[in-house]
Amino acid sequence: MADAVSVTRSTYDEIATGFARAQAEGYPELADDLNWLASRISGDSRVADVGCGPGRDLGLLRAMGFRAVGLDLSAEMLRAGGRTGVAQADMRTLPLRDGSLDGLWCQAALLHIPHADVPGVLAEFARVVRPGGAVHLVVAEGDSEGWERHGYGGDGLRWFAYHRLESLSVLMAEAGLTVVEAAHRSHHRAWLGVRAVAARSN
Ligand SMILES: C[S@@+](CC[C@H](N)C(=O)[O-])C[C@H]1O[C@@H](n2cnc3c(N)ncnc32)[C@H](O)[C@@H]1O
Repeated sequence: MADAVSVTRSTYDEIATGFARAQAEGYPELADDLNWLASRISGDSRVADVGCGPGRDLGLLRAMGFRAVGLDLSAEMLRAGGRTGVAQADMRTLPLRDGSLDGLWCQAALLHIPHADVPGVLAEFARVVRPGGAVHLVVAEGDSEGWERHGYGGDGLRWFAYHRLESLSVLMAEAGLTVVEAAHRSHHRAWLGVRAVAARSN
């Protein structure tokens, strides 16, 4: 298999402008997701938007008062959003200290991580979020993984790895993230919204 993550990054570099235009639309449950995070952690909390793309959600998180940083693998996606306080980073090895976040937001980005690498990414999420901190994920719902070629004015390949709530919850629990709420969604495709808390150290 070609390196799924680097091919997907190259495609996002190519489609960044088109994606930034489309991202502005948002999704119906976005306000609920932001409010959930605000219900779990205080207003000035440290949050990372992992796989932030151009940074629509990053702006919303900051507007709520969170001290939020945006991380994304694609430099062009970050550039397309024109936001400060962002850095190029791979979620498989986050450039953040242990327990340095109160909250982690990962919207439609874990879906590009091959299934074999997902336990490692979830362990990274659990490592950087303090015990009792909050994690919000949205993933594509389904069973398979593979290349898809469509979208945002380009014809490059992106790797999509789908998840079901039951198996993802098990992986998250193994990483130390306890799922507290989840919901099935439908917006262009089937999505799974998952809200979790990081295990307390005692
Ligand atoms: C579908 S976009 C979602 C962007 C944004 N979160 C949103 O909801 O609009 C997926 C994003 O994940 C990023 N991404 C893919 N693999 C990544 C990785 N290994 N580490 C960090 N970001 C990654 C892509 O560059 C892209 O910006």
